Amino acid sequence: MVKTTWIGDVQKGQYNGKEVELMGWIKRERGSNKLRFIVLRDSTGSIQCVGKLDALGEKSFNLLKGILIETSVILKGVVSASEKAPGGHELQISSMEIVGGVNSERPFPINEDSLRVVDENGSPLYGGSEFLLNHRHLYLRVGRQTTMLKLRSSAFGAIHNYFRGQEFIEYQAPNFVAGAVEGGSTLFEVPYFQDEDNPDQKVYLTQSWQLYAEAAMPALERLYTIAPSFRAEQSRTRRHLTEFWHAEMEMAWANNNDIMVHGEGVVRHIAKTMLDECEQELTSIDRDLDLVARYADNPYPRMRYDEAVEILQGKGVKIEWGEDLDHSKESVLTKDFDVPHFLTHYPKIAKPFYHRVDPDDEKYVLCHDLLAPEGYGEIIGGGERTWTEKEILERIDEEGTPRDPYQFYIDVRSYGGVPHGGFGLGVDRVVSWLAGATSIREVIPFPRTSRRFTP
Ligand code: 4AD
Ligand code: MG
Repeated sequence: MVKTTWIGDVQKGQYNGKEVELMGWIKRERGSNKLRFIVLRDSTGSIQCVGKLDALGEKSFNLLKGILIETSVILKGVVSASEKAPGGHELQISSMEIVGGVNSERPFPINEDSLRVVDENGSPLYGGSEFLLNHRHLYLRVGRQTTMLKLRSSAFGAIHNYFRGQEFIEYQAPNFVAGAVEGGSTLFEVPYFQDEDNPDQKVYLTQSWQLYAEAAMPALERLYTIAPSFRAEQSRTRRHLTEFWHAEMEMAWANNNDIMVHGEGVVRHIAKTMLDECEQELTSIDRDLDLVARYADNPYPRMRYDEAVEILQGKGVKIEWGEDLDHSKESVLTKDFDVPHFLTHYPKIAKPFYHRVDPDDEKYVLCHDLLAPEGYGEIIGGGERTWTEKEILERIDEEGTPRDPYQFYIDVRSYGGVPHGGFGLGVDRVVSWLAGATSIREVIPFPRTSRRFTP
């Protein structure tokens, strides 16, 4: 059985007047004792199909009548253009074969009512209701969620294209690690096999590919990955997952500014690719295409952390110099941004040990976060690395972290260290922001959060 005809192509008018065989799932069904209208969907779209008692005969017509939502079928018939039919085309059914039925005692549980879920402010919660999360495996095939999966695929493709186009080499790091990258508070410990020589050594799921990428930096010079990262993240926001997809890059002979060029480059390339590949999908979920085009076409300004703190204080937000910006503060700051902005030069005390101290003012580190507009907030974190052996030892000791798990990291500096840097981009966050999703949970097939690890 090979499928040759796709509903998306039928709706483009490629089969007008022709007999076709359509394989798909029943999305809707209604009609009278002589005439039934069904909507058939496949991965590329949906189409109205008309079943007439005269044409089908009683047996087939009765099968069609009251057919359950999500039954899989093969329909044959002739395609015609029709102004009344959604999408502009219609199939006159000449025969129907049921492939996979639906248990009438357990009809498809997702309907208009279950989709009409709102939060405490009355905003839609497509990605968030417990019912929809419990039925995530079925929800994936409902229009809006399928669209999100397509946008996601477009973003993954764009990231690979961007980095490969810039001569970066794809490189993989282990997911079981012995040390933190982003601080101990969000580490997931795993019950690994005990090391008899070192029984106290703990093993964790990785928070970032970065430290292992730095080890390969002298070998490959420009490298990238897209891989899962893990954070024991309690925050129940619409931006946080415990398992998320992380696009990271590392580059030798580069400073903070050189790294930001690629952060801007890859985000603009994702926006452009989504517009090129998924205009129809974005329109179908009411996303403003002009906004996405603006993010693709314009440069991203840079602002120092100190300036951001002043803006926030001017808006009456309580923030002390030295605090990292949490999501609520980023949200206030980025409400008025028209494009993403880089925030640079955070206070040293707000950032992990690997960030390079600014030689011009030791209170700061040479780092950046890229904050997305519309109140979205951080989508990239990166910067220049502490690259001499002396400085990395100072920074590790200063943080009070044991040196042992980081010996491999220190060694990178002991043998011909060079200035280098990189960043990490939260792919789910970027997709969620560009798609205008109501929650990050909408754009990842099976979201993992502090309270959710099924289905
Ligand atoms: O800012 P973060 O913690 O930076 C790092 O992990 C660096 N080691 C990356 C590097 O330089 N190679 O994380 C990077 C990005 C964030 O900006 C955010 O987009 C995403 O990863 N992210 C999350 N996305 C979803 N859920 C979470 N809990 C996330 N935590 C971080
Ligand atoms: Mg960060």
